[in-house]
Amino acid sequence: MTADFTVSDLRQCPDFFDTVADRIWQAWWEPKGVPLAYIAGRLTENLNADPLPIALVAHDGPTFLGTSSVIASDLEDLPQYTPWVAAVWVDPEHRKRQIGRTLVARAAQDVFALGIDRVYLCAPKLRRNFYLRQGWVPIEEDVGDRSVTVFVLEQGCGASGAAQNPPKLP
Ligand SMILES: CC(C)(COP(=O)(O)OP(=O)(O)OC[C@H]1O[C@@H](n2cnc3c(N)ncnc32)[C@H](O)[C@@H]1OP(=O)(O)O)[C@@H](O)C(=O)NCCC(=O)NCCS
Repeated sequence: MTADFTVSDLRQCPDFFDTVADRIWQAWWEPKGVPLAYIAGRLTENLNADPLPIALVAHDGPTFLGTSSVIASDLEDLPQYTPWVAAVWVDPEHRKRQIGRTLVARAAQDVFALGIDRVYLCAPKLRRNFYLRQGWVPIEEDVGDRSVTVFVLEQGCGASGAAQNPPKLP
C-alpha cells in the first residue's frame, strides 16, 4: 500500500508554519487562554539548525493534513524522560487514513536517527489503544492532573515501518 500523502519536516515546508501553529494552539492552548503568538514563537524553535525540537507536517501537496512534534520535555513531573513525541494532530476530515499513525512513527524514527534509543509520549485513556497498537509500552499511569499514561518506544520495537509504508488494516 502506498501512502497518498507526504510527511515533511517543517523546515522543508515553512509555508505550513501558520497552519501548524494554529492547530497546536486550537487543540491544546487556546482553551487555557494562551495567546496564539506565544505558540507561534515557540514553534519558531523548530526552524533552527538544532536537531531538536522537530515539527512534522503531513500534507498532500499544498493541502495540510496533520502534524506531530518532537520536544525535549512534555511533562514537568517527569524531567528524567526525554525526548517526547507530542502535539499529534490530524484535521478531522482526514482522519482514519493512517496519517496519525504515520506521523507518530516518523517522529519516533527521526529521534532514533539522532542516535537516541528511547522516546516517550503521554496520552489520555481515550488514545491508549491508538498507541498500544503501534507498539508503545505504558510505563506510568495516571500522571499529573490530566491522569495521562506515559508510554515509551525503544529503537527496534513497534510499528516503525509505518512511516514509509503504512500497513493495510483488516
Ligand atoms: C488521534 C489522531 C491524531 C489520529 O489520527 P488519524 O489520522 O485518524 O490516525 P490513524 O488513521 O492512524 O488511526 C486512527 C484510528 O483509525 C483506525 N483506522 C485507520 N485507518 C483505517 C481504515 N482504513 N479503516 C478503519 N479504521 C482505520 C486506526 O486503527 C485507529 O484506530 P485506534 O485509534 O482504535 O487505534 C486524531 O484523531 C486527532 O488528531 N485527534 C485529536 C488530537 C489528539 O487526540 N491527539 C493525540 C493526543 S495523545
